[in-house]
Amino acid sequence: MVSERAAQVLVASNRGPVSYTLREDGTLAAKRGGGGLVSGLSAIGKSGEGAASLWVCAALGDGDREAVRRGTGTAGVRMLDIDAGVHADAYNGIANSVLWFVHHMLYQTPLEPAFDAEFRRQWAAYETYNRAFADALAAEAAPGAAVLVQDYHLCLVPGMLRELRPDLRIGHFTHTPWAPVDYFRLLPDDIARQLLRGLLGADRVAFLTRRWADAFAACAVDVLGAGALEGTALGVHGLGADADFLRERAHQEDVNEWMVRLRERVGAGRRTVVRVDRTELSKNIVRGLLAYRQLLTDRPEWRGRVVHIAFAYPSRQDLAVYRDYTAAVRRLADEINAEFGTDDWQPVLMELDDDFGRSLAAYRMADVALVNPIRDGMNLVAKEVPVVSDAGCALVLSREAGAYEELGDNAIVVNPYDVMATADALHTALVMEPGERAERSKRLAAAATALPPAAWFLAQLSALTSE
Ligand code: G6P
Repeated sequence: MVSERAAQVLVASNRGPVSYTLREDGTLAAKRGGGGLVSGLSAIGKSGEGAASLWVCAALGDGDREAVRRGTGTAGVRMLDIDAGVHADAYNGIANSVLWFVHHMLYQTPLEPAFDAEFRRQWAAYETYNRAFADALAAEAAPGAAVLVQDYHLCLVPGMLRELRPDLRIGHFTHTPWAPVDYFRLLPDDIARQLLRGLLGADRVAFLTRRWADAFAACAVDVLGAGALEGTALGVHGLGADADFLRERAHQEDVNEWMVRLRERVGAGRRTVVRVDRTELSKNIVRGLLAYRQLLTDRPEWRGRVVHIAFAYPSRQDLAVYRDYTAAVRRLADEINAEFGTDDWQPVLMELDDDFGRSLAAYRMADVALVNPIRDGMNLVAKEVPVVSDAGCALVLSREAGAYEELGDNAIVVNPYDVMATADALHTALVMEPGERAERSKRLAAAATALPPAAWFLAQLSALTSE
């Protein structure tokens, strides 16, 4: 239950629940996003507590900025029109090229990182951007309100806000992994201290798994000394899949239509290995394709009998390294199709434009789901496919995904760097006896839905307001 103290609940995140695009005729079109936070916030409304809520987010594109200028608001949402250059330096420069890389351990250390003058300039933008959020939250929050700050974009906000408004209950939730001490220590010492002190300005910091929470605690003690965590509670809330929403959505007309089309492209009687990701460096799509190629090389009996449905949706294309990665993914899929494909069999079906209905159709058709990230805060695809798949699916899962903590027992677990072992795991998954597969899939779905988004959100909130 939400306590009386949290008469008002505020959420702060870089990406908000709504985005605007400018139509050719000059009018604005609003699009509502999905995700755990959106359903969580609307759950407060339904909880009968009558809590007023406000979501503070950044204006992300020209449409959003125009909406702010015209005063075209969405109830319950306040978009901050932060200078575009400042936002780009904070979001692309620090959040996505430094903090994301540190926590996902993506640096190729002989070459990167080099924390130089450009980095310091971008860091100043990150401070300005965090300051804009802290100021807006301080201005909007009612006395004693609960504020839930989200993710690595906004690490400094809790500390800044605590100084401005000591009366607030401040929580921070990290949706990424947290780096181990030696890797976190790549950051300049003063920056490491600032990040940790910023987060520890919160009454409570929470993570998706125990592993990430422990890593954070170890970094805090290593960098700031024993006692660093005094005054801040540490929480773990493993965000689960939204079974009701997914099952309902997965049987709507567009999904049924996509299934007909996809089935035709796969061909009768063939097995499917399905993956759906943002084309994200940490998702390890290239090694996944290499493993699939290895499977076809080592076990020719699968040629013509399996199709890899690989949906890889564009992400963070402002960054050259993401554009290069996207190109590498495409190239490898084309190579596999050229090497093994026949007149009536395309080994890899790759789609690059995001369509949730088509993703759900692929989930429903999945015999095997491949989720092999290098490192991942949770990975909801691993949780969603077993919930939606029509006949139950086998899950090949990286031990470096947060979801491994809850799903590992019923998945086929792989080291994401080990291409040969991943190829073997695909074979094991493909030959799994249907009864066992269905049983395991049922257990996966049960574990995956233990804490659906609304409950996840309310759990954080009640822990924050009662601790
Ligand atoms: C991860 C992060 C989120 C982020 C999402 C999409 O899940 O934890 O904070 O919103 O990726 O990335 P984007 O950069 O497009 O917001």
